[in-house]
Amino acid sequence: MTSMTITTTTSQVPSQAPWLRAFFQRCWRVGILLLLVVASLGMSQLAVAQADTDREMVTAAPGISADQWRQVRSGETGPNYRDSRFDSNYNLINSSGETWRQIRNRWVSPFGLITVGGMIAVIALFYFIVGRKHLDEPRTGRKLFRWSLLMRSLHWTVATLFITLALTGLNLLFGKFVFRTLFGDAVWAWMISASKVLHNYLGPVFGILLVVLLLKLLKDNIPKKHDLQWFKMGGGLVGKGHPDAGFANGGEKAWYWLLATAGLVVVASGFVLDFPNYGQGRDTMQWANIIHAVGALGLTAVALGHIYIGTVGTEGSLEGMTTGYVDETWAKEHHNLWYEEVKDQALSEEEVAAQKAGSSSGGDVSATKPS
Ligand code: HEM
Repeated sequence: MTSMTITTTTSQVPSQAPWLRAFFQRCWRVGILLLLVVASLGMSQLAVAQADTDREMVTAAPGISADQWRQVRSGETGPNYRDSRFDSNYNLINSSGETWRQIRNRWVSPFGLITVGGMIAVIALFYFIVGRKHLDEPRTGRKLFRWSLLMRSLHWTVATLFITLALTGLNLLFGKFVFRTLFGDAVWAWMISASKVLHNYLGPVFGILLVVLLLKLLKDNIPKKHDLQWFKMGGGLVGKGHPDAGFANGGEKAWYWLLATAGLVVVASGFVLDFPNYGQGRDTMQWANIIHAVGALGLTAVALGHIYIGTVGTEGSLEGMTTGYVDETWAKEHHNLWYEEVKDQALSEEEVAAQKAGSSSGGDVSATKPS
């Protein structure tokens, strides 16, 4: 509603100064932000109700007395004391739960934090010492088609889902130490339940789209002999010149295969956790949780490296994934073998603009798609 009002206002000020017009055009974002703030306040009221500890006890453990807990703990089984899952053969309280808790809280959480935090520190250090990798030669201004609209959409959807899952996952693991103390129980209750819902529902969507992305990229990521040389030369950091690379270089292939192995293990263990109604026992769930957390934290750390290389780390990479086209010089320096295959298809900026105009009016740009 807010943004609609502002859009009308914007169209009524064509004679305003450009900065004022730009200000109005950005106002819709403020509108959305305000809506989110109002929605959060509304949700926090629900959370306040949930944070009432007396009421929580009544709903969490209705009518269970200390005697009954003692009976459960004693190992005695009975209709009321068994695990609710049909194939479990142990009691509601069991020592494997404590082992899981110890592994999660004493090992996975702290080492996960060290891995992700350490990666951020290494990237920052690398940036300050080595800096951005600029192109050696000037740009030619001629463009090569690299990523189709479908692949770009797929990449950015998978990336957005991954980042949302990483943030909500980190919140599930560490959030209470930060946000609970910062904002109090009410806001924290809202944050953690929102994180859990988002994480549980977006996980399977991410899993399915990741498989599609991996299948579409498989052909370009088959390991080749020259990839070994790429690693020996640290992707161009060690020695002189650029190592050979096809459509995907050694580093991209490593990222691909990490996603195709550890990524799929994280997805599979996530499915085990998301759908406990398929008969898996509590031990299976506990192991799935540990495997899921270790894999996801490792992937998050490596994803930070990928994001750095794809943005500030390397001049010219991001434009391929945003516009679909890369400069000839970038292709020659970073993917020389691919460049040799497609160099005849280089287009001037005007031709690219014409192609884009053609495609937005129903034309087909896929004719120049190299792979
Ligand atoms: C803000 C976050 C991200 C940025 C800025 C980014 C950037 C990029 C860029 C620029 C490329 C193209 C490199 C080239 O043309 O050679 C690329 C490729 C790719 N990205 Fe991302 N990315 C992000 C997040 C992610 C995430 C989270 C995933 C997976 C979970 C991912 C998976 C991939 C894959 C599989 C490729 C193809 C590499 C290959 O050919 O093997 N990206 N990314």
